[in-house]
Amino acid sequence: MSLRSEYDGVRLTTDRLRLRPGRVGDAVVHRELWAERDPRVPSHRRIGADGRPTLRDLEDALRSGPQASGLGLLAVDRKDDERTIGYCGLVEGGPGSAALGGEPHGPEIAFELLSLAQGQGYATEAARAVVEWSRREGLERLHATVWSWNEPSLRVLEKLGFVETARTSPDGASGDMVVMAVEL
Ligand SMILES: CC(C)(COP(=O)(O)OP(=O)(O)OC[C@H]1O[C@@H](n2cnc3c(N)ncnc32)[C@H](O)[C@@H]1OP(=O)(O)O)[C@@H](O)C(=O)NCCC(=O)NCCS
Repeated sequence: MSLRSEYDGVRLTTDRLRLRPGRVGDAVVHRELWAERDPRVPSHRRIGADGRPTLRDLEDALRSGPQASGLGLLAVDRKDDERTIGYCGLVEGGPGSAALGGEPHGPEIAFELLSLAQGQGYATEAARAVVEWSRREGLERLHATVWSWNEPSLRVLEKLGFVETARTSPDGASGDMVVMAVEL
């Protein structure tokens, strides 16, 4: 399956959310997400001392398209105030594949919300829509990769039926990385 072709024009709607392809203007939200990341997230996924990635870097990444940028994720907009609160979607060859070595294990679900939108069930609602979309598209299995300290994320995946399939410690500093999967 070509994820890129699947992303072209995809729109998912839930009770409170709209999920749509990313656009360059989403870079502002991506920069906020980078800035808010937990200090336990590996440093290459956090803003560096040099301020990078800058807003311009993230705009360039979004402009290059989903596969090139690794930002091939649907933006999540709240219906009531039209605010973009994060992203949720599928990535190919995600961190679980890399950490475990061998062949990529297929699409991984990923999600991240601004802190102002957390704790209200939005991630579960968005991720459920992505799981249902994956099922409709004929995928048989989805993976996810989560740090073992990330209780909210583990809980979201658990609510969607994901179960742990592997565990690894890729860099020693960030704790265990848990690989989870759900059969669709
Ligand atoms: C993970 C994340 C997307 C969750 O978003 P959210 O909208 O707050 O999630 P939801 O409200 O749908 O569900 C969160 C669940 O975790 C639970 N939870 C929250 N904090 C928790 C904690 N410290 N310990 C245990 N459970 C916790 C909530 O109670 C809820 O479960 P419940 O419905 O059974 O009560 C959000 O916290 C986030 O963006 N974190 C930073 C980025 C990230 O970690 N992304 C995932 C990388 S794999």
